[in-house]
This record gives sequence, C-alpha cells and structure tokens, in this order.
Amino acid sequence: MRVLVVFIKELVESFIRNFRLLFSRAKSNHINTVLKETGIVKIDGFYTKQECKKLRDRIDDYIERENTNLWVDDSGADHRVYFINEIDDEFNKFYEHPQIREGLLNYTGCSKPSGMLLAARIDAKEGNLGSGGGWHRDSPIRHQFKAVCYLSDVDTNHGPFQYIKGSHRKMDVFMTYLLGVFKTGQYRFTKDEIDTYLNKRSKEITEFTAKEGAVAFSDTKGIHRGKPISKGSRYVLFCYFWDGAIPKHFEKLRQR
Ligand SMILES: [Fe+2]
Repeated sequence: MRVLVVFIKELVESFIRNFRLLFSRAKSNHINTVLKETGIVKIDGFYTKQECKKLRDRIDDYIERENTNLWVDDSGADHRVYFINEIDDEFNKFYEHPQIREGLLNYTGCSKPSGMLLAARIDAKEGNLGSGGGWHRDSPIRHQFKAVCYLSDVDTNHGPFQYIKGSHRKMDVFMTYLLGVFKTGQYRFTKDEIDTYLNKRSKEITEFTAKEGAVAFSDTKGIHRGKPISKGSRYVLFCYFWDGAIPKHFEKLRQR
C-alpha cells in the first residue's frame, strides 16, 4: 500500500516536471543527458586559480566576522555562510551564472527559481561526519538540481562529494522498496543500509574529486554525502534552488 502511495507521488512529480519542461525553453545537451542518466556531471575549469583564491579569502573573512550568521556543526569542522549571495556581489555572480541557470532550466524546466548560495569551509577535525551529516537524499520524491563548486583542490582525503550514480532514478528507488532495502520515503541512511544497497543493486560510490575551480551539477534526490575530511580544508559553494518558496527552516540561516 505504501509503495502504491509513493508510486502515485512519483507519477505526479514526473507529470508536473515534464509539463514544465515542455512549456519552457529547456534544451537537451550533453551535460543534461549525463545528468539524467547518472545524477552527476562534472565541469572542469569553471573558475581560475586566482578567482578561487579570492573567493576562499572572502569565505575566511566571513567566517571570522562577528556579524556573520554562521552555522557550525557539532564537531566544529563545518562552517557555513548561507545566503551569501544576498550580501556579496562576487558570490551572487556564481549564484546567477548563466551556465548554472541553463543547467537548472534544462533539467527541471524552472527558469525563475527561488534559492540561495551557501559558501562553506570544512576543516579536518576528529569526529567530523562530513558535509551533510551522512548519507541522504535531499528529497525522497522530487528531483533536485544543485550546482557544487570546489574552491580548493579536493582529493579523496579532503571530504569529496560522494554520490551513488543512478540512485536518483525512479526505477531504482522503487526497486529499493520492493527489495526491502529501504523503507518507503526514507531519505537518511546508515552505513549498513548503504552497504546492503550497493550489494543488492550492484552499485558503487563515486567520489567527485577535482582541482579547484571545478563544478558539478547533481540531482540530489540521488544518494550522496560529503565524505568525512581527514586532511586540510575544503572550500565549496553550493547553489540551492526551489521552484516554490524557500523552505521555512532555512529562514533562520539568512544573513541579516
Ligand atoms: Fe544533501
């Protein structure tokens, strides 16, 4: 019965999104094809070394300032400045970048999103869970488009974004329910549940490792996390978009 409810919700989601795509100026291109197929696509060289350095310095500055509405995780590793686009033009340029908006439009049909930009620095600290607090989907039903930009080199030790390719696809989501791997509507997962899923669905974890200045577009309905960081710091920008209002729980994170 619960699977049937989810099935109906998925159908409605699909109908609304495809209807929007049909009446938008969305085009299919290579980036969009890869994104649809796997849930993640990488674009190298979005920013130069100099631009990355400038933005890193600005993030450090905001983290130091007393009047920043800063979010810090329990381990003190993850420092986040949400809505940075609303107080800083340099960051707003990324949030409004035409290439990112084009990616959003092609994937979701959304041309006038609400949203914000998060700038974050995560430092290697004992006990950090990585960015995002472990394996999850941003939504169990709705497809999400997020743009992630690394402002520092990220290898396997620097807490890369990890993604399970194909886990955003409706058929895969159904199979996990039918096989009893996940509960219907579940969107946070333990390590054991992920191991069972990888095994039963013959999947593997992809690490988005890249040089500074690289961008990834990702459908964060797919299962992902920031890997716990064991070395140095990772500087990152995250574009959040919604086709309706910004969810209420983000309000307290707004810059004043
Ligand atoms: Fe997430």
